[in-house]
Amino acid sequence: MRNIILIGFMGCGKTTVGLRLSYRLRCPVTDTDKEIEREEKRSISDIFAEDGEAYFRDRETACLRKLLQENGGRILSVGGGLPVRKENRELLRELGQVLYLRASAETIYERLKHDTTRPLLQGSNPREKIRALLGERDACYLDTADVVIDVDGKDFETILGEIEQSISQ
Ligand code: S3P
Repeated sequence: MRNIILIGFMGCGKTTVGLRLSYRLRCPVTDTDKEIEREEKRSISDIFAEDGEAYFRDRETACLRKLLQENGGRILSVGGGLPVRKENRELLRELGQVLYLRASAETIYERLKHDTTRPLLQGSNPREKIRALLGERDACYLDTADVVIDVDGKDFETILGEIEQSISQ
């Protein structure tokens, strides 16, 4: 069985949607950030601070390779920067059906303006950081996705309904 994979920018709802979808479809869920934190026994912020972003990106690729060795039939939610690496985009497509949860920069800013857990958004002008990063990444998400789900202004029930429709087709 193929996996269902959720991609998209930080704060688009991948982790929450992944959990809810796993209850509905009665299948396991794996979140690459949580998997990496569990294996490393430290937070993403600590990994970035102690070993840098490049190290974290290699851990993301290793995590996808490991998942390819495991049974399918699960929901995977992956970190917002994971699809930027071309190799990862290829691995994601091998792993299953890819759904892009697309949110606007303004929605993301409203959700994450007080967040302290995303190292890439700390410091001054997070709104500008979000705009610039989303501008760079949107093409990577679109390049990987089989389906795009627009999430702006929608509640979780609506989003889950749209996902269920798109995966049953
Ligand atoms: C990142 C997104 C984060 C996490 C790390 C880097 C990114 O995951 O992997 O902070 O580069 O966009 P979420 O998308 O789950 O917030």
